[in-house]
Amino acid sequence: MPASSNKLPIGVLISGSGSNLQSIIDACEAGRLDAEVKVVVSNNPTAYGLERCYKHSIPTVVITKDEFPDKAAFDDEIIKTLNANGVNLVALAGFMRILTPALVAAFPMRIMNIHPSLLPAFPGLDVQRKALEHGVRFAGCTVHFVDAGVDSGPIIIQAAVPVLDDDTPETLSKRILVQEHRIYPQAIQLYAEGRLNVRNRRVFITHGKNAETSLTNPQCTLFKDDR
Ligand code: GRF
Repeated sequence: MPASSNKLPIGVLISGSGSNLQSIIDACEAGRLDAEVKVVVSNNPTAYGLERCYKHSIPTVVITKDEFPDKAAFDDEIIKTLNANGVNLVALAGFMRILTPALVAAFPMRIMNIHPSLLPAFPGLDVQRKALEHGVRFAGCTVHFVDAGVDSGPIIIQAAVPVLDDDTPETLSKRILVQEHRIYPQAIQLYAEGRLNVRNRRVFITHGKNAETSLTNPQCTLFKDDR
């Protein structure tokens, strides 16, 4: 039996830079993630993420929407490609398209997404700017299972980062991205270990340990007598 045969076969869907894809590749190569990227599908032929695959000899398939009459046919091709590569888990990593119900149904609770906000706050696009405009004290990222809605599926892991007074959407994105690269491979590893149990909207982790500390931002002294 090849050494890789007990690794979780995953497929990653990208549209752009692929830095989350890179974090998954790195975690696999470092032995922190018992998975193997079987195929990367990009809907963008010039996505930088494809270059990352070439460097690591990971098979790539480009599927653009112009090749197909409609979204159903486009997603059908994605399903075929993932199945042809023996994919068990699908990881969306900056894939800039909303999946059809047929694609979601083809991999029930077997599609994950990383989103750069603390869901359910700020689903959709341009969310770091929205977080700043809203004035939240914490931003962050969420790994969740994908359901038929947009950024609405059961939440697996979240990481929070403080919002700083001089943040711009760019600086906040950068701080969030560091956490994305940490928690996405972790969530996939939990899945690979069979430790994720979905009940209704909640995901329970076998032998998981909840964080016991609380974070406060800002940390200034709030009461006059304490100053
Ligand atoms: C990330 O911010 C991710 O949360 C969002 O799209 C961005 C993709 O970045 N879904 P990259 O392509 O992984 O660098």
